Amino acid sequence: MTLNLNMAGRHALVGGASQGIGKACAIALAGMGANVTLMARRKDVLEQTRAELPAPASGEHRVLVADLNQTDALAAAINELTAEHPVQVLVHNSGGPPPGTAHEADPDAYRRAFQAHLIGGQTLLQACLPGMRAAGYGRLINIISTSVKEPIKGLGVSNTIRWAVASWAKTLASELAGDGITVNNVLPGFTDTERLHGIIAGRARNSGSGEDQVAQQMRASVPAGRFAEAAEIANAVAFLASPAASYINGINLPVDGGRTGSL
Ligand SMILES: NC(=O)c1ccc[n+]([C@@H]2O[C@H](COP(=O)([O-])OP(=O)(O)OC[C@H]3O[C@@H](n4cnc5c(N)ncnc54)[C@H](OP(=O)(O)O)[C@@H]3O)[C@@H](O)[C@H]2O)c1
Repeated sequence: MTLNLNMAGRHALVGGASQGIGKACAIALAGMGANVTLMARRKDVLEQTRAELPAPASGEHRVLVADLNQTDALAAAINELTAEHPVQVLVHNSGGPPPGTAHEADPDAYRRAFQAHLIGGQTLLQACLPGMRAAGYGRLINIISTSVKEPIKGLGVSNTIRWAVASWAKTLASELAGDGITVNNVLPGFTDTERLHGIIAGRARNSGSGEDQVAQQMRASVPAGRFAEAAEIANAVAFLASPAASYINGINLPVDGGRTGSL
């Protein structure tokens, strides 16, 4: 049996696709032949990204402008898309909650994070499920964080909400497996994106150190000795989306250069 990574004829909806990890996932899936819909809030950046994607095997790539914090508008936009173009692969990804300790966070920050990451994911999934079931092929891949293995200092709201998403995903994995749908989480380590640059700047401000020094310390905490490229996270996502990953279901996959100390 050959390794089947062919995504021709599959429609993938990729969140947070205007930059960073989401953009890299869109490029990887398009490279495997999928039709990709790029989702985020900035239409102009999404359109630029769409122009950069390798052409699909047939049909076209699309753009969906939506904000995960605006649930009603999100539901309307995704239902309109899936009514005409059923989705088989959902990469649930967006920006991480702002940094800060858990005990100092504004209670509303937890509500906003729950709305974007969990209610947003549920809204997207429910619109995509009919297309997945009709195809007998579905992939939900959540981009979350290694904090589901070990909470990360200074990311209190993020640590909390990632667990909620991981538990949601694990439950879905057992509910949906009979329909040919898998549900998995990819846990990026330090990945060279705008998000990481913001975290480095924040740590530098809080510690009084320079950004270079903070980045150096962070690299030193990774056995691989470096940050990931977004494409290295996308490679894992693309594999989980492919036919080859049909029996991988309900896992948390760290892609972190060996940084996470727990099993
Ligand atoms: N980079 C890392 O080191 C790292 C490590 C662990 C986990 N992660 C997690 O992995 C995910 C992706 O990380 P990244 O580094 O690629 O982040 P990023 O550079 O901040 O990109 C976030 C993407 O999400 C979109 N987005 C943000 N808020 C949104 C909203 N309310 N509705 C719809 N789209 C929204 C942004 O586009 P628009 O502004 O156009 O909407 C952008 O495309 C995040 O959850 C992050 O916390 C990252």
